[in-house]
Amino acid sequence: MKATVLAHPNIALVKYWGKRDDALILPHQSSLSLTLSPLSVTTTVEFGVPTDAVELNGHVAKGSERERVLRLLESVRAQAGDKSLGPAKVVSRGDFPMAAGLASSAAGFAALAVAGRAAAGLPRDTKAESILARLGSGSACRSVQGGFCEWQRGERPDGDDSFAVQRFDAAHWPELRMVVAILDRGEKDVKSRDGMRQAVETSPYYAAWVKDAEAEVPRAREHIARRDLQALGELCERNAWRMHSTSLAAEPPLCYLNAATVGLIHQLREHRKKGVPVWFTLDAGPNPVLLTDAANEVAAEALARACGALDVIRCVPGGDATLKTEHLF
Ligand code: PMV
Repeated sequence: MKATVLAHPNIALVKYWGKRDDALILPHQSSLSLTLSPLSVTTTVEFGVPTDAVELNGHVAKGSERERVLRLLESVRAQAGDKSLGPAKVVSRGDFPMAAGLASSAAGFAALAVAGRAAAGLPRDTKAESILARLGSGSACRSVQGGFCEWQRGERPDGDDSFAVQRFDAAHWPELRMVVAILDRGEKDVKSRDGMRQAVETSPYYAAWVKDAEAEVPRAREHIARRDLQALGELCERNAWRMHSTSLAAEPPLCYLNAATVGLIHQLREHRKKGVPVWFTLDAGPNPVLLTDAANEVAAEALARACGALDVIRCVPGGDATLKTEHLF
């Protein structure tokens, strides 16, 4: 009745940006990400306690945050076909700054989905876990497994074919590095959920974004298969620019970049001219993530710091969400 799971966040190399179904969190296009180590979230779930209780990073969860967790556990009960599992207690802790814009929710909901099913006595099943994680937060479906995961958009209205599959595990490209440059620790103004809805509803470029992103996924897969850093880096930047261009064209416009973000991007191009292999990607916030290799991660960190990074987190390809024997309560 009790299980604990550790999961890593992921960073999209081809982004997910826009839902075709808000309730089931079904995307308009497929996406592809890299799971990041050493960052992690650990979550313990126990069924059969007196009342539902949700604690996230030392705080009692309230409102929509609490609702999202409890709704996911309701789906676990349905999968287990056992309404008698009773109320649940959830305690979750992350080891990285939640305001870093690193989609802590991805690792959190992946850990919750895997722990929830295990606590309900269900066997490990990455498809079922990914679908469950998706119901908490879209990008979470890509954190159930390590390495490079592809979230296939699917076609079915019930979402049963919309889940992530691992294309390559973490050992496929151990020299790859992702360097997170924290330029701003503040909460973002517009959450991904609201930003993507605004882009879907008002950006005249939205249809083009969907078509292009879908076509980039198999190309990214090929670059990863060949461990071609330059081709992947170029694709990654192109895809981030296109997501942000689509959003800038929304009404009202969505601008996630701040002055420091733009400054860093210009400096990064200068570095590239001098032969340093470094590219960037950017989620719905001002903190870029630099893509490079082990031989150049120190240079990438120095670049981020010279451009005003308050903190820099160096990451390597991470592994699967895993069950732990030690519980949080
Ligand atoms: O799953 P959400 O609601 O956290 O949205 C994630 C959106 C991006 O981070 C911008 C892109 C992605 O694919 O992770």
